[in-house]
Amino acid sequence: MEKTVSIAIDGPSGAGKSTLARRLAAQHGWLYVDTGAMYRTVGLQAVRAGADMDSEQAVAALLPGLSLGLRYVDGAQHMFLNGEDVSGLIRTEQISMAASRVSAHPTVRAYLLETQRAFAREHSVVMDGRDIGTVVLPNASVKIFLTAAAEERAQRRYAELTARGERVTYDAVLADVKRRDANDTGRAAAPLRAAADAVTVDTTGLALEDAFCLLSKTVQSRLA
Ligand code: DC
Repeated sequence: MEKTVSIAIDGPSGAGKSTLARRLAAQHGWLYVDTGAMYRTVGLQAVRAGADMDSEQAVAALLPGLSLGLRYVDGAQHMFLNGEDVSGLIRTEQISMAASRVSAHPTVRAYLLETQRAFAREHSVVMDGRDIGTVVLPNASVKIFLTAAAEERAQRRYAELTARGERVTYDAVLADVKRRDANDTGRAAAPLRAAADAVTVDTTGLALEDAFCLLSKTVQSRLA
């Protein structure tokens, strides 16, 4: 079997991970795996069930009854929750926060870990998340820590949400970005941090095209 390539991309929310990772995968014909979407799907289920998201026991109790599917439709990753395509529903601010909260529980992380690793065993992947280089794929071919200033990440997220018709203010989005950063970096289980052997790519002040160029060149040079 041909050797697979795995590119781990971690970083805070709004740094452009998913857009850039998807494009990098398409450029090379690799599979793009968005692990945040898996946590979002668990978060959606917790919201629907009215579970106390800060209680590990309450969230863990949902997992046995959960059928979580990840399938590629026309090359795009779709998430299925008990057979329902929830790919659009998991993109709201409410579910962003729910995902951040349920992802703090080790039981939830353990539940998703093997599925994530299996993708990288079977395919060449670009996988993005918070703990890909540190926990999920410690032997990834290349590890990137993609980041940008909080104000700029909030600005991008604000533009994205308002374009989709969500009624939010910039200040509220910035507060959410900072709260999620604090949740994601401050938790005990697999906190967001750069792996010791990760290359940091800072996209502050860079247009999308320039950010992609920088990422693509960084990956190429590490693979060579
Ligand atoms: O990448 P995202 O914004 O869609 O992720 C949603 C939340 O899921 C994020 O706040 C933290 C969590 N997450 C995580 O803990 N580990 C990952 N590998 C991916 C996401």
